[in-house]
Amino acid sequence: MLLLAAAFVVGFVLLLYMVSPLISPKPLKLPGAHVVVTGGSSGIGKCIAIECYKQGAFITLIARDENKLLQTKKEIEKYSVNDKQVVLCISVDVSKDYEQVENVLKQAQEKLGPVDLLVNCAGTSVTGKFEAIEVNSFERLMAVNYLGSVYPSRAVISTMKERRMGRIVFVSSQAGQLGLFGYTAYSPTKFALRGLAEALQMEVKPYNIYVTVAYPPDTDTPGFAEESKTKPLETKLISETSSVCQAEQVARVIVKDAIQGNFNSSVGSDGYMLSILTSGMSPVTSITEGLQQVVCMGIFRIIGLFYLGSFDSIVRRCMMQREKSESTDKTE
Ligand SMILES: NC(=O)c1ccc[n+]([C@@H]2O[C@H](COP(=O)([O-])OP(=O)(O)OC[C@H]3O[C@@H](n4cnc5c(N)ncnc54)[C@H](OP(=O)(O)O)[C@@H]3O)[C@@H](O)[C@H]2O)c1
Repeated sequence: MLLLAAAFVVGFVLLLYMVSPLISPKPLKLPGAHVVVTGGSSGIGKCIAIECYKQGAFITLIARDENKLLQTKKEIEKYSVNDKQVVLCISVDVSKDYEQVENVLKQAQEKLGPVDLLVNCAGTSVTGKFEAIEVNSFERLMAVNYLGSVYPSRAVISTMKERRMGRIVFVSSQAGQLGLFGYTAYSPTKFALRGLAEALQMEVKPYNIYVTVAYPPDTDTPGFAEESKTKPLETKLISETSSVCQAEQVARVIVKDAIQGNFNSSVGSDGYMLSILTSGMSPVTSITEGLQQVVCMGIFRIIGLFYLGSFDSIVRRCMMQREKSESTDKTE
């Protein structure tokens, strides 16, 4: 009886593996595709643009600083694989005015054709204790990180639906999967992207459009270096429990997942665990992925509880040390 049950389970899993490729999206062909990368002049966005260009795509880079854009354009052009490839630069703030974003994307599509892949990577961060963060920073971060992804996506979605093809990537963060000390202004903006992505994916899947949410870990970029200058001690110590990734590595994973049409894109073993743990009701792109979530969820929750315990103890220790040094200061 036991043998029969085991044979049934193995047979069922094998069957799932066999039908899995039938329900997965067809990979996007990057050669000749038009890829738009917001935040493409620096860090992860720049590496994503390079990775796509190396695979034969036409690139539109979007950011505010024109000089940085032109410098990046030159850098990317070194990787051309054919002499037809173009890198277009557009200087615009993606978070300010929807009509302006729509207009510049219309112009880019007139020059390089309809957008096949949009990567929403423009973003910024502010860390600090909740009460120490300027109130307008909460608004600014929500504008850049959230609305700055809504506007470009809204501007290209109708054409993608007409063509019944397209890919949209939202670059969230591991801080968009769990809330950590110091990230009260940043985390909610990255959590918001997940909600947007889930709802949008359900709307556009019948049109053969696939949405990817990327959750990069700490990554060595100019933005990360800037953020590190003002990180509270607690945030630094928690961050140090995992290593800092290279932007090239993160970009390669994001581009691969976007090509495959995977909803979830994570880097490394921590990223894999967090994505399984937070999968909730998010879409899966293959049965294999769903099976991994079902099997691993419980054990990863146990590991996650240990992590949470160690983070809480870091926060408690920092508070006690601070109070101790404040009281010695007072007695002196
Ligand atoms: N680095 C990390 O550790 C890490 C980890 C997880 C997630 N992320 C996310 O990954 C993305 C890229 O991060 P990064 O570290 O590579 O950042 P970065 O080096 O600071 O680059 C940010 C890019 O976004 C552009 N940008 C910023 N605000 C903009 C706006 N309002 N309109 C148009 N472009 C704008 C910047 O150019 P201009 O300033 O010229 O506009 C730049 O090209 C962000 O969304 C970030 O939240 C980063």
